[in-house]
Amino acid sequence: MSSPPLAVASLTDPLELVAARLSGWLSARAGRDGVDPVVRPSDHADAQVNGALGLAKELGCAPRELAQEIIASGLLDDLCAEVEVAGPGFLNLTFANDVLNGLLTAVAGSERLGVEQSASPQTVVIDYSAPNVAKEMHVGHLRSTVIGDALVRMYESLGHRVIRENHIGDWGRPFGMLIEHLLDLGEDVAAAGLGQGDLDGFYKQANAKFADDEEFQRRSRDRVVLLQSGDPDTHVLWNRLVAMSTDYFNEVYSKLGVLLTNDDLMGESQYQPLMAGTIERLSQAGLMQESDGASVVFPPGFTNRDGDPLPLIVQAKTGGFNYATSDLSCVIDRVERLGANLMLYVIGAPQQQHLEMVFAVARMAGWLPDNVAAVHVAFGNVLGEDRKMLRSRSGDSVKLVELLDEAVERASAAVNEKNPDLSTDERAAVARMIGIGAVKYADLSTDRVRDYVFDWNRMLAFDGNTAPYLQYAHARICSIFRRAEEDRSVDRRFAVTETAEHDLALKLLAYPSAVADALTSNSPHKLCTYLFELAQQFTSFYEHCPVVRAEDAIREARLGLCNVTAQTLAAGLALLGIDAPERM
Ligand code: ARG
Repeated sequence: MSSPPLAVASLTDPLELVAARLSGWLSARAGRDGVDPVVRPSDHADAQVNGALGLAKELGCAPRELAQEIIASGLLDDLCAEVEVAGPGFLNLTFANDVLNGLLTAVAGSERLGVEQSASPQTVVIDYSAPNVAKEMHVGHLRSTVIGDALVRMYESLGHRVIRENHIGDWGRPFGMLIEHLLDLGEDVAAAGLGQGDLDGFYKQANAKFADDEEFQRRSRDRVVLLQSGDPDTHVLWNRLVAMSTDYFNEVYSKLGVLLTNDDLMGESQYQPLMAGTIERLSQAGLMQESDGASVVFPPGFTNRDGDPLPLIVQAKTGGFNYATSDLSCVIDRVERLGANLMLYVIGAPQQQHLEMVFAVARMAGWLPDNVAAVHVAFGNVLGEDRKMLRSRSGDSVKLVELLDEAVERASAAVNEKNPDLSTDERAAVARMIGIGAVKYADLSTDRVRDYVFDWNRMLAFDGNTAPYLQYAHARICSIFRRAEEDRSVDRRFAVTETAEHDLALKLLAYPSAVADALTSNSPHKLCTYLFELAQQFTSFYEHCPVVRAEDAIREARLGLCNVTAQTLAAGLALLGIDAPERM
């Protein structure tokens, strides 16, 4: 794959500065391009250079000697206060405080906090949320929505062109039955039920009728034919049904504070007109085969349990198209119409094989050229405290709206207790930020491929790796400025001296790298981990270094560190779609 890098090296991260300098020198020494000096954070120093080890092997010299040569080159002299050879041939680096001061000044002076815009912006299509019409939105859709929203914000912040696509399930055979049920109930009754998010109830009733009412079955089948043949009245009914569900989805989105709107809807129905052409192109490419009467494609490398080749069915025996046909058409649309360079599919892990087969077939057909990447951003399950799939007490799937309301309610109890002096409105606003932030952060902070346990007490705790902890760290800094009667926006001279200041500065300057790491692997949890460590680093700084009580220049310098910390916390939380209140 030859797609250009998505994130750009930061000009204010001292580790990157070292890497840039050493890469040139080591490449010249090796007589080839692109030698990676392997500069990493270290527990023993500010950073560690590991590249001499590998290169020494290549050049047939002693690693410690090569490490020594790097020191002797003088390249690190103006960046580091100390450089020493360690172990088999690492270099341990300690950065000079004035270097950190200079970099902090650069960072503090820009809103971007050192995060560079991409020099080669990509068109990134992000497929996320994607609930199904007339079916309950489950916690899997919550995960997709929250993770997708964070990715959208991260890619946009680097200047990429992001296209959000909400691939809702709004087409297929069940719609005949759902439309007939809508007519039987009467639109008002249906709208009332669906509007309150009783989607499962509606679906189940329709299903039950279908199971034991032959006349209803006949009507439903006729209705599917009418829908597919574009009958205008049927389309009006279908549209209403879709609108009732999307109204409900929008209510969930607005409570969650995610960016999705109706403009981002790109459901399965949108690809219906393209499907015949997709099938046609597959046959012309000579890829289509027949299996039990169905039209299928065999992508190489996929086998079933018995080791037999596994087909991707693209047209059923009856002539009908399916989920695979729709996703194949969707690939064509995203690449050829939207010009995507990168396509992210934020979908649960169980759909992995489906997606891999779709991508493989698309590559065979030439629809996914080498410079376009298709990535399944997979995620695990949300579990209840019993470690089984999260369910409500009655055993049904959990209603998202109720879940979000409960989060705000619980947060509001904590806010009322901690902040009796805030106004009622302010308390309500803060409770919303904390409650929704806690739910989102609990989801985003675990490696997405893993399952996580939905635990109210843990996610709402004010300590540990939680949203309230980070929000509180931010609010606390805001309150330091209020108490000191100081303006946050004033430019301040940095004067890092103490170890706690030095370590905090280093952490602050690592923000662009944290964003880049999270983005390259589409893993928001890496940004969460960074923010948590930053908040901890701040706490230890604040314990060791008095701010408000300190004198003149020191006070100024420390206020400067406090301010960049607050800015970084707020910016990082914003990339995750989480608000940072100024007081709480
Ligand atoms: N509606 C599907 C579901 O609820 C998810 C669709 C994901 N997107 C896609 N292009 N297949 O499982």
